[in-house]
Amino acid sequence: MSAIILDGKSLAESVRAEVKVGVDAFRAKHGRVPGLDVVLVGEDPASQVYTRNKEKASNEVGMRGRLHRLPADSSEASVLALVAQLNADPLVDGILVQLPLPKQVNEQKILDLIVPEKDVDGFHPINVGLLASGRPGLVPCTPVGCMRLLKLAGVDLKGARAVVVGRSNIVGKPIAQLLLAEHATVTIAHSRTRDLPAVCREADVLVAAVGKAEMVRGDWIKSGAVVVDVGINRVDSGKGDGKTRLVGDVALEEAKERARAITPVPGGVGPMTIACLLQNTLTAATRRATQG
Ligand code: GUN
Repeated sequence: MSAIILDGKSLAESVRAEVKVGVDAFRAKHGRVPGLDVVLVGEDPASQVYTRNKEKASNEVGMRGRLHRLPADSSEASVLALVAQLNADPLVDGILVQLPLPKQVNEQKILDLIVPEKDVDGFHPINVGLLASGRPGLVPCTPVGCMRLLKLAGVDLKGARAVVVGRSNIVGKPIAQLLLAEHATVTIAHSRTRDLPAVCREADVLVAAVGKAEMVRGDWIKSGAVVVDVGINRVDSGKGDGKTRLVGDVALEEAKERARAITPVPGGVGPMTIACLLQNTLTAATRRATQG
């Protein structure tokens, strides 16, 4: 078997096109465009790339995207003050504080201050609770992107066995909730799980979100399973040229021989995250404009 490759790049393009249409309609109706404000504290190289891409992508769909850069030695009070200012600004619909934050800034305190209706990351405890209780809120972007890719694969989740490897608040836990809401039987596995390969072999749908390069091997995958690889790991190219390449949490070439469909790295889940962030920002703006 050679798996169908689930093309996140082209799906993300169509999501962005949908959002652009929505932004045009929002402008016509409300006389302004949705606003996304991204906060970057410090100079982490990956975070700099991610936040610049978020700002650029929001402007490309016609939103007002802004990036606020604060120095690495910023006090917690100064980050809280910026979040408070964005909370109070009526033209700001979405606030995203890029993680990780420098160690002098308490992540939980910052995330808890973002008003839930502008929390486009879906990390505020109110949004976490709404997701867990099946009520409408804002849902973390990467898990939403994964679900759209599963839809693209035509997976019938009802009664399916889903295994999520990884229990992070950003990906593992929220995607487990989304799979459960679609009536899958969900297992959340993690670094302490006994006989992880055997647990993975049970999965009709396997989601890998651990951040360990190519940890999930081909023989961990049930024949015909659908595999979603959330990992983005930079490793040596292996060619002795000093260069690096990106790999996921799944050994792609091995997995292709067993899976029915798989998201590649790069070009799978990654591009969907920003597209779903734009979708969340439009949703937040629409709710704020219509619900006051
Ligand atoms: N850092 C890595 N992923 C994310 C994300 O989805 N949101 C934020 N705010 N920071 C991140």
